[in-house]
Amino acid sequence: MQKTLLHSLAFALQANAASVVPLPELKGPYRVGTSVLELVDSSRTDPFAPGVRQREVIISLFYPTQEEAEKCTLAFQFPPLTAAFIDGRYNDTNASAERILTQSCIDSPLSHPELPLLFFGPGFSNSRTYYSAALEELASHGWNIIAADHPFDANIVEFSDKVLYAKDSTLVNGTADQYLEVRVADMKFVLDALSDPAIVSRIPGLSAATSSPSSRLQTDKVGAFGHSFGGATSLQLLANDTRFAVGANFDGTLFGAVVEKGTDSPFVIFGTNPRMVDDSWPTGWKNLRGFKRQYAINDTEHGSFTDFPIIRDILGPDSPPLLNNGLGIIAGERIIDIQTAYVDALFGRFLKGENGELLDGEGSEDWPEVSLVGKN
Ligand SMILES: *[C@@H]1O[C@H](CO)[C@@H](O)[C@H](O)[C@H]1NC(C)=O
Ligand SMILES: *[C@@H]1O[C@H](CO)[C@@H](O)[C@H](O)[C@H]1NC(C)=O
Ligand SMILES: *[C@@H]1O[C@H](CO)[C@@H](O)[C@H](O)[C@H]1NC(C)=O
Ligand SMILES: *[C@@H]1O[C@H](CO)[C@@H](O)[C@H](O)[C@H]1NC(C)=O
Ligand SMILES: *[C@@H]1O[C@H](CO)[C@@H](O)[C@H](O)[C@H]1NC(C)=O
Repeated sequence: MQKTLLHSLAFALQANAASVVPLPELKGPYRVGTSVLELVDSSRTDPFAPGVRQREVIISLFYPTQEEAEKCTLAFQFPPLTAAFIDGRYNDTNASAERILTQSCIDSPLSHPELPLLFFGPGFSNSRTYYSAALEELASHGWNIIAADHPFDANIVEFSDKVLYAKDSTLVNGTADQYLEVRVADMKFVLDALSDPAIVSRIPGLSAATSSPSSRLQTDKVGAFGHSFGGATSLQLLANDTRFAVGANFDGTLFGAVVEKGTDSPFVIFGTNPRMVDDSWPTGWKNLRGFKRQYAINDTEHGSFTDFPIIRDILGPDSPPLLNNGLGIIAGERIIDIQTAYVDALFGRFLKGENGELLDGEGSEDWPEVSLVGKN
């Protein structure tokens, strides 16, 4: 039904095409496809849901595709009720969120299963859809990316047959460590699901019957990254499941046993500048025993690492004033380019065997807003 809604929305908007606001064209060498999968974990009861029900997770995939341009229908960034939720939050009578169009083709075939998989986690209470602009840009550089929503942690999770709200943006159902544990279990479940032929066959371009290793998704060794609580989840995932082999955290306070126990796996922390040194970082950092880097990015605030800066910029004068809170003054396109360059270098080095020379400072003159504040 979500696709039906999206299609009917697309149809409705065709009548008024001038009102559509497209995200910038992608800069990487690949065209990008996107698809949504709703997954049920029959092994877990949802610990947060009122009543007894199985834990459900919804994911978006962003991936290189070879779809011909004329067959491509671009996806809107937000499904309808999520868009309405965002408009309400920003008091936006212009209904801007409904009009943001991504550069990703709906349900185009995933054409490079041999490229590594990256798992992305949103900030606490945020929808995965708040990051699609950054994720589609990264995918265009040659990554298969999964963004997951965590129901009853995200304020709104829009399934085809229901919407799950967590209205408070607070830890109503437990401690941060308990929420983290649920996120880790969600991510492990999604990675397992991507090895399940019945689920793989629901991904456009893949079939259950693929036997050659190069035509399967690369589930043995993946990357994990995220914003805020999603960044904290990435670190805990490295400790919980060795398939998650390398991670990155955009401005997230760290939680979980991993802060004290540490990990041998590579991990990078990105923070704001002016720096808001997080209390959890000195301990977490000391206990990173593998490759590590810490960067601070000028003119950013916590919200800079979402798509709202780019949305603010493409809306221009239509941008609702409330939207501008906590986003920093960095340009939306610039922060996405910075994230793309550094994340591509990190995961390129540890998942593609590339040099990732930016991690050693080579080419860093292109990114003068980024300061290296820690390394080993
Ligand atoms: C979580 O909170 C909801 C209400 O917000 C409540 O119905 C549910 O029982 C709580 N779950 C747990 C595990 O406490
Ligand atoms: C939202 O808009 C309403 C009516 O336009 C106004 O009364 C209210 O103060 C606004 N809220 C904020 C937080 O700006
Ligand atoms: C992750 O590891 C911790 C111990 O470090 C353990 O308590 C927890 O149950 C694990 N969680 C999952 C989902 O595997
Ligand atoms: C709606 O857009 C107009 C410009 O087209 C702008 O002046 C106004 O501030 C916007 N309203 C809101 C609530 O964002
Ligand atoms: C970034 O901020 C630092 C101060 O923390 C400053 O020294 C540096 O010049 C800034 N770089 C740019 C490109 O603005």
